[in-house]
Order: sequence, then C-alpha cells, then structure tokens
Amino acid sequence: MQRRPSPFLLLLLWVWVPVVFAGNLPEKLGLHGGRSIYEAACAACHGHQGEGTPTDVAGFDQPDTFPHFNKCDETTPEYTRDWKAVILGGGAARGFSHIMPSFRGVLTSKQADELVAYLRSLCPDKSWPVGELNVPRALLTEKAFPESETVVTSAINTQGPAGITNELVYEKILGKHDQLEIAVPFQWARQDGGGSAGGLGDIAAGVKHVLFSNVHPPRDGPFSDSTGSILSVQGEVHLPTGSTAHGFGSGQFGLGLFAAYDQVLPAQTFAQVQAGVDLPLRTTHVARSAFVRTAVGKTFVEGGEIGRRLWSPMLEVIANRDFTRGAVTDFDVMPEFQVTVNRRQHVRAALGYLIPVNNTAGRPRQIEFYVLWDWFDGGLLEGW
Ligand code: HEC
Repeated sequence: MQRRPSPFLLLLLWVWVPVVFAGNLPEKLGLHGGRSIYEAACAACHGHQGEGTPTDVAGFDQPDTFPHFNKCDETTPEYTRDWKAVILGGGAARGFSHIMPSFRGVLTSKQADELVAYLRSLCPDKSWPVGELNVPRALLTEKAFPESETVVTSAINTQGPAGITNELVYEKILGKHDQLEIAVPFQWARQDGGGSAGGLGDIAAGVKHVLFSNVHPPRDGPFSDSTGSILSVQGEVHLPTGSTAHGFGSGQFGLGLFAAYDQVLPAQTFAQVQAGVDLPLRTTHVARSAFVRTAVGKTFVEGGEIGRRLWSPMLEVIANRDFTRGAVTDFDVMPEFQVTVNRRQHVRAALGYLIPVNNTAGRPRQIEFYVLWDWFDGGLLEGW
C-alpha cells in the first residue's frame, strides 16, 4: 500500500513551486543550471544527493520504480528522454506514480534539459553504459547494450514447408558490465513424411561483457541528443536439447561467440553490427558457421517532447556461411520496425519480413515478430 503524500508537502509544492517558477522566476532568482533548480524543486522528494527523501519526511511511500539518482545501477541505463518526459509531463506521462508532479509551464524545455544533465551527474561512477546507447532491439542482430528484459520472438515460414520457430529470451544485468542471457527455442514444423511435430530446439546460455562504451553529449543541445558507441562480446553454451529427428536444433553441445558493436548517430539514427561463430562440438548434423548481422535505423518520436510513442524502422542485412568446403555465403535482408506499445514504453513490439537474397532453396521467407518486456522498468501490466 502506498501512503498518500502528506497534504502539507503537496500544498507546499503545488502552490509554492509554480509560484516561484512562474514568469521565469528561476532565472530572476539566479536559479539557472540544473543543480539550483533541483535543490529548489526536486530535492524535497528526491533528496539532496538524489538518494530519495525518507518516507516519514517526504510523506509518501516510494514506489518500486522510484529512482535513486545516486545509484548508478538504477538510473544510468535509463533514457534521459524519458526523464525529461516525466519532468515536464509528470509521472502520469509515462504511467508512473502521480506523486511525481508535472513541471510543464513551470520549467522551460531548456531547464528540463539542464536538470536531466544534472541528474546524470549524480551517478559517481562514469563507467556504467548510459541509456542513450541502448538502441532499439532488432529482430536478428543482437545489440551490445546489457539489459534486463524478456523477449518472445516468432518466425513463421510464408513459403515452402510450414514451420514456426518461437524463442523465449531472458536477459538480466549482472553488474555494470555484464549480462546473463538464456534463450529457449520451441519449434513446430510440417515433417517430410507427412504430419507435423513440435518440440524444443537447442537451449543456449551465455554471458555478455561490455568492453567499452562512450557517450558524447552535443556541445549546445540536450543530453538526449548524445552520440556514442558501445562494444560487447558474448560467449554462449548451446545444449543438445533439440530434437534432431524433427529437424530442431543440432543435437550437439556447442559454443557460440560473438562481438556486438552499436553506434548512436545524430538525429536518433543508429547502426548495429554483430559478428560471430557457432561451433557445435561435433558436426554430424550441423556445420560450424560464421555470421555477420547488421541493422541500421532511425527512431521517430510521435507526440512532441513527451514522446507518447516511438517508431523505429530498421533494415537488417544478414550473412551466414558454413565452414564446409565449397560453401557459399547466404545473404538475407529484413525490413522491419519496432514500436513502443504502452505509455511507459517498456513493452515494445517489432515486425519484419525476412527475405533470402541468394541460394534460396530450402531457405523460406519468414514473417518475424517479437514482444519485449523491459522488466527493469516495472511489471508487465504497469504503465499502460
Ligand atoms: C512530490 C514529490 C516529488 C517532487 C517534488 C519531484 N518528484 Fe520526481 N518523482 C517522484 C516520485 C514519487 C517518483 C516515482 C514515480 C514512480 O516510479 O512511479 C518520481 C520519479 C521521477 C523520475 C523518474 C522517472 C523514470 O523514468 O523512472 C524523474 C526523472 C524525476 N522524478 C525527476 C524529478 C525532478 C527533476 C524534479 C524536480 C523538477 C522532481 N522529480 C520533483 C516524486 C517527486
């Protein structure tokens, strides 16, 4: 149960804050720069170091998602764009608690940018990868940014033998540079001899490690327009849980290794590259292979500064090659888009169409889609 904020505090803030800030008073009072605005308007609830004001002082119980700006693990992975939306539109703008007031009409857009830059400075450890580097997830190209999310992906053949491959991916941040990943595929396919079969594919478990990340805020512009890059490597173990009799998985223990590099470019455009190898320990049913996956795209913000919905069209180009004599490199392209589904934007969906470009025999076109839940930002049913 959340306690209601003390009426006294609310009265103070709702009446005093707009009065003080009306008519650009902050500047008249010398309140420019994120820090002084923060001290005047935010510290009562968020604490002087961003640590959060104790419940008995603030008069409300902190929701689970209450941010502690001095705790790098809680706040660095967030997008500053979302913070600005919450500052201007209030908690309600992103499906958060209404206790977080709206400062629209009280603070200018520039002051909100200054505040956000100040909030970023409250995390003392600069080696955490910043949320600005968290590009939209592509359907196939895996990104470098570590996350805590659950994704369900489906690929449906639209040509050739009927078949559906689903995959449940669970990801969890393990500290500042590492992330655990478990992928469980389950498949269904029409069989050669007639009839159909369903079952597990090869389960994979891996760890991603960030080698470097850097973010460059623009000289005169909001932090959310930062560019930057991030590089990670991931090692995986593939378990022989697939049913090879039905054509699911390799039926072998195997290792996977890849590097992922994401580049955030100006104007919300981005490029992602993932390159790696799949190494089954024995190659009776499947060959060892290498792949390069790339995705380029741009995010469009619908709904002005608050950004009610984000649309991210992307194009992926995929290359695969088996390590067998005479093998050719298979190329695929996939036009796709990702869209935020709920107000908090931590539930998102993507839809794409995979088109094999060469060597098309036995490589069907597929409709692919996913639903992802970034559980770091709250429950699946929160924030709608
Ligand atoms: C009346 C108390 C109160 C005041 C004043 C207040 N906040 Fe908040 N703020 C909250 C609460 C409570 C939440 C948590 C909302 C939730 O997680 O549901 C919050 C959440 C936030 C978030 C997090 C949004 C996210 O994406 O997780 C940001 C950013 C924020 N506040 C910034 C500010 C800034 C900047 C100010 C001053 C201009 C401010 N707040 C003033 C109570 C307040």
